[in-house]
Amino acid sequence: MISMQTIIGGNWKMQLGIKESIQLAKTLVSSLQDLERVKIYVAPSFVALPEVATIIQNSPIKLAAQNMSEYESGAYTGEISPLWLKELGCEYVILGHSERRRILGESNELINKKVHNALKYGLKPILCIGESASERSSGKVKEVNARQLEKSLKDIDSDQIKNIIIAYEPVWAINSRGLNPTGEIVPATPKQAEEMHNFIQQWLVSAYGNIGKEIPLQYGGSVKPENAKDLLSISSIHGALVGGASLNSTDFVQIIRSI
Ligand code: 13P
Repeated sequence: MISMQTIIGGNWKMQLGIKESIQLAKTLVSSLQDLERVKIYVAPSFVALPEVATIIQNSPIKLAAQNMSEYESGAYTGEISPLWLKELGCEYVILGHSERRRILGESNELINKKVHNALKYGLKPILCIGESASERSSGKVKEVNARQLEKSLKDIDSDQIKNIIIAYEPVWAINSRGLNPTGEIVPATPKQAEEMHNFIQQWLVSAYGNIGKEIPLQYGGSVKPENAKDLLSISSIHGALVGGASLNSTDFVQIIRSI
C-alpha cells in the first residue's frame, strides 16, 4: 500500500461572508502551525478568496476555490476564470460538487470541460462524485459513480490524473437541505465508505494502471469530530472534505487532530 499524506479540506459553501471568513481563517492559522502529516485546504466563497489568501499565505493551509468557469476569459457574465484563481494563489478547485450537479444543473460534460481547464492553468481539481439515496436504494451505486468518473475524466491522461483528487460524497450524507429536503441526514458508515473508496480505486487502476493507487480519495458527507477517526483510519480513505463542521474552528481542528 502506498502511504499518502492525509488531505483535509474545508468547503465553506455559501455559508460565510467576508468578515466571518477572515475571522475563521485567522483562527485556523493560529491553531494549525505544526502540520507534518496532513495537508489542509479551505474553500471560501469567491468574494472572500483575496482576504483569506493573504491571511493563510505563510501558513500550511492551502487555498481552494469552490467552482470556476470552463472558459479562460471573454464575454461570460458572472463567470470566474481559472487564471484569476491562480493569480490569487489557489492551488485547488472543487469541481462537480453535488450541489452544483443536482441543484444548479451541471452536467458531467460541463464538469469535464472545467477539469481540463483547471489543469491547463495549473489548478488541481477536487472532482466530486456521489450517488443519491434513490440511486443507492435501486442498486445503482457503482453504476452512477462509474459513469460520473468516466464522463468527468474524459480524455484525462495518466500524467494529468496525478494532479486530481477525487472526493466521494454520497448525496444522502451531505448536510444540505437543498440536496436532502426531508428526513435524517446521516454520514456513510465506515463500511459503506470503504466499499465505495475501494471501488473508485479499482476503477482508477483499470483506467490508469498503478498510478490509480496514488490518486488521493477524500470522503465527504457529515464528517464530524465524532466520526472522523473511524473514517480516516481506513486505508483507501486518504482524507475528508468537510462542509458544516469546517465552519467551526474547534470542530475542524479536532477533525484534523484526530488523524
Ligand atoms: P457536510 O460536511 O456539511 O455534510 O458537507 C459535505 C460537503 O458537501 C463537502 O463538500
